[in-house]
Amino acid sequence: MRFPEYRPRRLRRNEKLRGLIQETELSRQHLVYPLFVKEMAEERIPIPSMKDVYQFSIDGLLKEIEQVKSLSIPAVLLFGVPEHKDEVGSGAFDDNGIVQKAVREIRKRFGAEILVITDLCLCEYTSHGHCGIIKNGDVDNDETLKILARSALAQVEAGSDVVAPSDMMDGRVRAVRQLLDERGFQHVPIMSYAAKYASGLYSPFRDAAESTPQFGDRRSYQMDPPNQREALREMQLDVEEGADIIMVKPALFYLDILALARREINRPLAAYSVSGEYVMIKTAASMGYLDYQRIVLESTLSIRRAGADIIITYFAKDLAGWLQRG
Ligand code: PBG
Ligand code: ZN
Repeated sequence: MRFPEYRPRRLRRNEKLRGLIQETELSRQHLVYPLFVKEMAEERIPIPSMKDVYQFSIDGLLKEIEQVKSLSIPAVLLFGVPEHKDEVGSGAFDDNGIVQKAVREIRKRFGAEILVITDLCLCEYTSHGHCGIIKNGDVDNDETLKILARSALAQVEAGSDVVAPSDMMDGRVRAVRQLLDERGFQHVPIMSYAAKYASGLYSPFRDAAESTPQFGDRRSYQMDPPNQREALREMQLDVEEGADIIMVKPALFYLDILALARREINRPLAAYSVSGEYVMIKTAASMGYLDYQRIVLESTLSIRRAGADIIITYFAKDLAGWLQRG
C-alpha cells in the first residue's frame, strides 16, 4: 500500500509546530465588555438571569472599569438603564441621561485609557420598551431616526468614542452620520448592528436593561432567523450609509452570517455573543456538565475563526484573566 503524500498528523504531533501553523489567535485586544449603568444608590445589583453580571451605579461603574483596564481589555460597550421612561425615550438624548453622565465621568477619570462604545437605541428609555417610537400601534421608522441621531450626538458630546446603533430602523446609519458630521464629529466611527436577528437569546439581557417590550415583539425591525441573503443586504446597506464597523448578532447561532460577512463585506467585523449564549454556557458549566474555561475559550475562538475582528462578550473578564496567564 502506498502512503498518502500528505499526512496532516505530521504537523500535529509537536506542540511548537502546532503553534507555528495555528490559524486563529484569541487575544485580549479584540475583546469588548458590555456594562449596564443605572441611577441608583447601591454600587451594583446582580442580574438574576445572568450570574456574575451586574447593573452598576456610576461609582460602581468606575470601579468596574478600573478592573477591566487592569485586565487589559481595551473597550467597553455601555447600556443605560434610566430612572424615568417615556413615550419617546427622552433619557436617550438628555444631556443628563444616565449614559451621557456615565461617559463624562469615565472620560474624566480615565481619559483615553479605555475605549468607550455607547449602544444607541431607545428600548431602554421608552415606556413601551420598543426600539423606536410608536405611532398608531406601530414603530414609526422615520420619526425614530431623528431621535436616534439626537441621542448619538448627545453621547458623542459627552465623550463617547464610538456609537453603536442597535435599533434596526431603516436609514439610521445615514441619519446618525449626517448629524454627527454637521456638528463636527466626522472622526467618530459608527459600529452598526447591521445583521441583528429577532432571537430568543436576548431575554436575559432584557432583565439587565429592563427593556422587555410591553406589547408585541421586535420582528418588524429585527431580522428573521431563516434568512441569510437578507443579512447581506442589510450589511451592504449599512456600509453604503457610512457604517465603519459591521456587527452580527447573536454570534454562535449565526456563525454562517459572520463567515459570509467576512467574505463579502470589506469592513471590520464585530460579533456580539449575547446574553443567552452566556447563560447557556454559564448554566451548563455550573451544573458540572461542561468545562467552563474550555468551553468559553473554544466558543470565543470559533467566533474569531468565523471572521470576527471584535468580540463583544460577557466572558471578556474571565477570558482576559486566562489569556493573561497564557
Ligand atoms: C437593544 C439591544 C438588545 C441587545 C443589545 N441591544 C436586546 C434586544 O434587541 O432586545 C441584546 C444583547 C444581549 O442579549 O446580550 N436594542
Ligand atoms: Zn433596542
